[in-house]
Formats: sequence, structure tokens, C-alpha cells
Amino acid sequence: MKTLPSPVLGALKPEYGSERAQNGEPVAPAVSVRGVTKAYGQGERRVVALDGLQLDVARGEFVCVVGASGCGKTTMLNLVAGLDTPSAGGMSVDGRVALMFQEAALLPWRTAGGNVELALRMRGVRSRAERKRVALDLLGAVHLDEFASRQPHQLSGGMRQRVALARAFAQDADILLMDEPFGALDAMTRDLLHHELEQLWLDRGFTVVFVTHNVREAVRLADRVVLLSSRPGRIVETFDVALPRPRRIESPEVSSLAGHVTDRLREEVRRHAGDA
Ligand SMILES: Nc1ncnc2c1ncn2[C@@H]1O[C@H](COP(=O)(O)OP(=O)(O)O)[C@@H](O)[C@H]1O
Ligand SMILES: [Mg+2]
Repeated sequence: MKTLPSPVLGALKPEYGSERAQNGEPVAPAVSVRGVTKAYGQGERRVVALDGLQLDVARGEFVCVVGASGCGKTTMLNLVAGLDTPSAGGMSVDGRVALMFQEAALLPWRTAGGNVELALRMRGVRSRAERKRVALDLLGAVHLDEFASRQPHQLSGGMRQRVALARAFAQDADILLMDEPFGALDAMTRDLLHHELEQLWLDRGFTVVFVTHNVREAVRLADRVVLLSSRPGRIVETFDVALPRPRRIESPEVSSLAGHVTDRLREEVRRHAGDA
């Protein structure tokens, strides 16, 4: 792994586990969601997507949010990203956020390097040479420096997601919001990207809020798995994952805890089906 230039990743210092700064003051959570309700539509069409959601994510923590389809996971991430506003409640986000989706959403007419350079330009890196150099470094961190001049259509799905990751670093994000980012990848590529994301996170200590409906993936990656109920989304239960890293998705320990979380999720889905 290459060392990245400090102006770009200066904010990504490993601070996980330090609930108090050196002066003894409590460290503010990176993300704090305080009793957030989000409803769409009016009258009979009103849909309550989230109801009184309460969640703190510590700086440097890796939290996975799991729940059935339609339970409000994307709604929650959009609110944290500031793309939408809550109907009630409040939230605070301490840091710069970047969003990653299932699709990398790269500009198709720009090369991999060009996509990363654009994020640097938006961030105010004036010198073209500097943007080029930093983009190459960032692509190196995701093992893609040799592919910098390729266009998105010349890259595999996994490579495109790596470019999206490099772009998030170019935005100087210290909070990564990931919405089922590996959902479209084959199992082998997904395993590899789990490993790479985990290594980058261990090296750099950014904060991750990772949404997925894949319980095994959540247990493989997270410090803490948060289970959301079906509509309206509320937190049903939180599971601390104390397993050593790096983890393997097929290990008996991951499978066992994932089985437990899945049982709880099934109960939720059944309960919701009973309500309907
Ligand atoms: N812009 C919107 N307008 C109306 N309803 C919406 C909108 N976005 C999401 N919803 C509804 O809110 C609920 C939660 O959606 P979403 O957050 O996308 O769930 P998830 O990501 O967990 O699958 C769903 O019932 C969905 O239909
Ligand atoms: Mg979603």
C-alpha cells in the first residue's frame, strides 16, 4: 500500500476507539441521528419510511445497517448525506461525507484517472499536475494505478467500484456512506473488495456507514450491525461484532452470528407480513 499525500488524506487519521480526546473531552460522534422521522407524500399516500430513528456512529467506527428491502436504509443514508431533510428529529454529521452506490456512477467520457481528478478539482486542487499525481496515488491505493487511462466501460464492475472508492478519497471524505456498494458484484470480486475496504479502513481510520440487505456481508465487515425493522424503519437490535480481523465471510464465526441476525430479521419480516 502506498502512502498517500497528507493534504488529501490528512483528515483520515485512525482514531477508532478513542472515545475521549487527549484533553479528556468526549469526542463527538461522526454521525448522530436523533429521533429522525421521515415521511413521504401526503394524506392516504403518506409513507412513513423512518420512525424515530436513533443512531450514533463513533469516529472511525464501521457500522453496517441491515434490513429488508424498503425498510428505509437508503432514506437514512440520504438524510445523513444531506440530500434530503427529516420530517422530524435532527442529526449532526462531523466530517466530510462521500456516498457510494451499487453503481459507481462514473462519468463515462472520462478515464478512471479523469474521474478522480475531477473530484480533486471540485475540492479546489488547482494545479493540473498535482491533480494527476494525487489521482494516480489514490488509484494506487485501490490497486488500479495501471488502469488510470481506461474509460469506465473498459473496466469490470469491481474495478469501477474501486475507482468510486478512490474518488471518495479524492473528495477528502472522512465519513463513507455506502449503499449496497457491492450488491451487483460476483461473490469472488465482492470478497476481494471486502478485504480491500477493510484494509483501507484499518490503515486510514475513516468512518463507515454501510447499508446492505446481505447479513453475512454486514457481519464480515462491521464493528456493529444495526438491524432495522420493516416500514416504518426503526432500530430493532444492535449486534456488536467482536470477531478478530481480517475476517472471512465463510468462517464458522461469521456464519454463526449471521445466522442469529438473520433469524431476528426473519422475525421482523414475518411480523411485518402479519401487519399487512
Ligand atoms: N422519494 C420517495 N417518495 C415516496 N416514497 C419513497 C421515496 N423514497 C423512498 N420511498 C419509500 O420509503 C420506503 C423506504 O425506502 P428506501 O429507503 O429506499 O428503502 P431501502 O433502501 O431499505 O430498500 C419505501 O416504502 C419506499 O417506497
Ligand atoms: Mg435502498
